[in-house]
This record gives sequence, C-alpha cells and structure tokens, in this order.
Amino acid sequence: MVSDKVSIHGTWASRWVFILAATGSAVGLGNIWKFPYMTGMYGGGAFVIMYLVCIFMVGLPIMLAETLIGRRGRQSPVNALRTLALESGASPRWSWAALMGMVAALLILSFYSVIAGWSLDYIIAMGDGQFEGISAEGAGAAFGTLTADPWRLTLWHTLFMLLTGVVIARGVVAGLERSLRIMMPLLFVLLLVLLGYSMTTGHFMQGFHFLFDFQPDKLLDGVLAAMGHAFFTLSVGVGSIMVYGAYMPKRASIGSTVLAVGILDTLVALTAGLALFPIVFAAGMEPGAGPGLMFVTLPVAFGNIAFGQVMGTLFFILVLVAAWTSSISMLEPAVAYLVERTRRSRVQVTSVLALLCWVVGMGTVLSFNVGAEAKFFVFTADGFQLFQWGAEGGRNFFDSIDYLTSRILLPLGGLAFVLFAGWVLKREAVREELAINNPLLFGLLYWLIRVVAPLGILIVFVAELMK
Ligand code: TRP
Repeated sequence: MVSDKVSIHGTWASRWVFILAATGSAVGLGNIWKFPYMTGMYGGGAFVIMYLVCIFMVGLPIMLAETLIGRRGRQSPVNALRTLALESGASPRWSWAALMGMVAALLILSFYSVIAGWSLDYIIAMGDGQFEGISAEGAGAAFGTLTADPWRLTLWHTLFMLLTGVVIARGVVAGLERSLRIMMPLLFVLLLVLLGYSMTTGHFMQGFHFLFDFQPDKLLDGVLAAMGHAFFTLSVGVGSIMVYGAYMPKRASIGSTVLAVGILDTLVALTAGLALFPIVFAAGMEPGAGPGLMFVTLPVAFGNIAFGQVMGTLFFILVLVAAWTSSISMLEPAVAYLVERTRRSRVQVTSVLALLCWVVGMGTVLSFNVGAEAKFFVFTADGFQLFQWGAEGGRNFFDSIDYLTSRILLPLGGLAFVLFAGWVLKREAVREELAINNPLLFGLLYWLIRVVAPLGILIVFVAELMK
C-alpha cells in the first residue's frame, strides 16, 4: 500500500511543482559558477566525463532514494528516517544520517549566501553601466576590489540570508511556485542567448574542445572532485530533495520525475560551460582561474556586446534567483524538523537558523580578505594541524567548509540514504513508491540503488582518504 501519511507542512499541487522545486534546488550556483570553474581547474573534458558518470551512476540513484524515502515518510528527513526505520524493524539511529545532512545543508548555506551575495553586487554594478567596454584586467580588478572589502561582502551576505529566510518563513509550498514558473524558463532563455554570444567570439570550438575532448591521462585527476560536485549540483546527500519528496503528491511517478530533474540540471551546467569558456579564451584569460571565473568573464562579455548592460543585469538577477531557489532548499530540512520537534512557528525557527548560518558565513566573508591567512586542515612536514595562521598550503575557511561538505558530509549522507532505501526498506515498499510496472526497469533501478551507487561512493571516498 502506498504510504497514507500526510505532511503537516503542506503538499505540492502536482508532480510538476515537485519538478520545479527540485530543479530550482538543483540548478544554482553549482551549475553556473562552480561547474565551469571546476572544469577549468581539473583540465576540461576529463572532468566532464567523470562528472557525467557520477551523475548517472550515483547522483540520480541517491535522488531516487531520497525522493521515495521522503514521500513515504511525509515528514522532515530526520523523522521520516526514524519512522520508516521503526516500521521496517530497523534501528531509529538511521535518523542520525539525516541529522548530519541537516547540519551539512546549513554549512553549505553559510558560504552559498556569501557567493550569491556577489551576484547582488553585480546586478547593481552591471545596471549602473560600470562594466561598459571593460577589459579582462579591468573585470579582474573589479572582482578583486569586491572580495577585498569585508563590509561590502557582509552587506550582500546579510541581504541574501534575509531573502532566503523570508521565503522559508512564509512557507515554500505557496510562496515559490509562481516565481519558479517564470524564472526557471527565463534562466534557460538567457543562458541560450549567452551561448549565442559565445558562438560569435570566434573561440567557440576552442571552448567546445576544452569541455568535451577526452584526455585519458587526466581522467583520474578530477574524479574525487567530480563525485563531490555531482552531489552538490543535484542537491543530494543532505535531505533537501527528501524534504521536497515529503511534499510530493501520492500518485506521481518518481522515476521519470527524478530523471527530468537530473537532465535539466546537467543541461544547464553544460550550457553554462559552453557559454563561458569561449569567452574566457577570446579574452585571453585562464580557464583555471578558480572561484572568480564567472564573475570576471561575464562582465567582459556583457561589457562588450550590444544590449550587454540590460542583458548582463538580467543575467545576474537570474543567477540570484537560481541561487535563491537553491538556498531555501538548504534551510527547509532543518526548519521542517524543528517545527515538528518544538512546535514553534516557522518564523521563529527560521529566524534562529538563518542567524546561525549568517554567523558561520562571516567566516567565509573574511576568508577572502583579512582572514585569508587563517588556514585549516594543514598538512606540514611535521604532520597534521587543524589550524595554523599563514600556513603554506592548507585551506582557508571557505575552502574548508566547501571541502568538508562536498567531499565528506555529502558522500556520507548519500551513502546512508541509498543504503537505507536499498537494504532497510522492504523491496515491496520501494516498488510501490517507484510505481514502475516494467520489472526489468525496476530491477535496474533497484540494483543501482542497492549496489552501484553505494559501491561508487565507497570507492571514491576511500580513495579520497588515502590521498
Ligand atoms: N544544487 C545547488 C547548486 O547546484 C546547491 C544546493 C541546494 C545544494 N541544496 C543543496 C548542495 C543541498 C548540496 C546539498 O547550486
């Protein structure tokens, strides 16, 4: 029997709204900002191939697992896991995985808000015409000035966190649907326009080859990063998708829904890469520039094309919206849990959690300027140190949180979720939720969830620790 539980937080109007919400969660800075710069850092095509393999072999099975656990449990991830574990005669401690995921999501939100804040700054600078006719050096300098100023970063970080909090406090179900319906298609259109521009740069094929050329020798360089990014870009491993699954209507096919989300997310990332790299090459910039890549290349593009001022402003508004529909999904699991647990209002719970994330986010703000020398996880000749000021190597605060979440917490959370769906839930329960009639197709998906995804995560995870 399909679960007859009801979510106290509300239910999406249709499967379509789940697709919008989950795609809104998945498509974000990860696609437009992180994917291109990571591809640049890890050598292009080899990274892209590993990324695609990770998405389809590991990422999508986890998304399936999360969605079906959420819909069957109909509560926040922590309580969904607890209830379903008890129903299946397993230990309620499975819910600890969701607890860890919740914390991971809040940690991600802390730095996500800072980066999303940059787009606020760029909306204004772009609208103001500050990038008119700008050179690559000029754009680099403008970006440097922004990140060097902790006050400016704090302002935008604060604003973005407020935006996120306001939507969550009002309730996701009613508040978001309308804006998502308009903004997501618009994001696609603008990406295509940008793609069109990059085709006119004369370096389109160079960008294309950079993204898609197969370099076997580099294949293993980026595999760990690719796996981490597959988790990040699909929003899996922390319960974001699970909590959205809890709001999904009873009779809706999970399999095709999840596939649609995965394909849309991948398309946006690849399009962003195809749009960005030709511009990078045309301007004689470095593809391996790191986190600043998008914030330096796009102004150059927009500053030098017809209607660039308008289009550029619109584009950064859409980056903002993409980030915003993602950031709410990071806050929702914890908010749903605390509402269930404390019976306090969404407004109260959201305020406390957003404030907490804001404080942690200040660490990221400072890691781009006055705190750049504060290094964590330092491996030196004399061994390992958790913290050292001014250490060679090591990671600053932002890199540390990014590393801790993408490389460690997300894979662990994802592993727990697929194991739970594959080995704790009864086969019949999974079959009912997936509602797939074709036994072959069901067998394939079930095998991906039970065997392939867990093994994939384990192998990459162990390789990471051995490095
Ligand atoms: N997927 C989003 C992006 O690509 C970020 C995101 C939203 C996320 N929710 C998450 C990442 C949960 C990890 C976990 O920008």
